[in-house]
Amino acid sequence: MSEHETTETAATAEPREAFAAEVTARLEPEAKEIIGRYPRPRSALLPLLHLVQAEEGHVSKAGMRFCADQLGITLAEVNAVATFYTMYRRRPGGDYQVGVCTNTLCAVMGGDEIFQTLKDHLGVGNNETTEDGRVTLEHVECNAACDFAPVVMVNWEFFDNQTPDTAKRLVDDLRLGRDVAPTRGPASLCTWKQASRVLAGFEDGRAGEGVQAAAPSLAGLRLARERGWTAPDPDNLPPREQGEEDAK
Ligand code: FES
Repeated sequence: MSEHETTETAATAEPREAFAAEVTARLEPEAKEIIGRYPRPRSALLPLLHLVQAEEGHVSKAGMRFCADQLGITLAEVNAVATFYTMYRRRPGGDYQVGVCTNTLCAVMGGDEIFQTLKDHLGVGNNETTEDGRVTLEHVECNAACDFAPVVMVNWEFFDNQTPDTAKRLVDDLRLGRDVAPTRGPASLCTWKQASRVLAGFEDGRAGEGVQAAAPSLAGLRLARERGWTAPDPDNLPPREQGEEDAK
């Protein structure tokens, strides 16, 4: 018996929740559309998990069962993927996922202080949600925006160069239902469920909105243009130095 089969047996010992028939009927055509984008059905698991997350706001056991049934794989296989990636919530959360980057660069530039400030200000810990159901706070890893450190992400949109005070204002505005504009990307935020649907591959038509790359990210390109620098021809590279060979 394989490891997956063993885990599946354990998983099925509990009652199996499933989506209501109406939800399954509504999601099935969209699931088929997603699966049709890939040469092998199981490759569609990641967007399918986003699709069920868009339905409930998190990936429930019913959502995982739906994915398993659509793909013809075991519940244990779906569970293994859903629990590996932190972009999938395993329990209900708020409309806005506020992720404070506390990876090395953001942490030293103030990310740790921002996270502590928001914890105190909101009265919640990591992966906890405010009582009004608006904001879930979490640590996030580097989002490749280190040139704007410290960075806060809300539903995966960037809020660059944050301070404890700007981050407090941000979560206050989210809780009060005020319009909030990310530093880059679309002019306003969508909810966590809507963002999950976009990640499932159903675009909301806003992908090209707003600034995508700002000046700090483009500084190297600008300097290279000004100085006439170009990348070396990969077919005509200079011979390696002795030390470089030894270091390989
Ligand atoms: S360390 Fe925070 S975005 Fe890279």
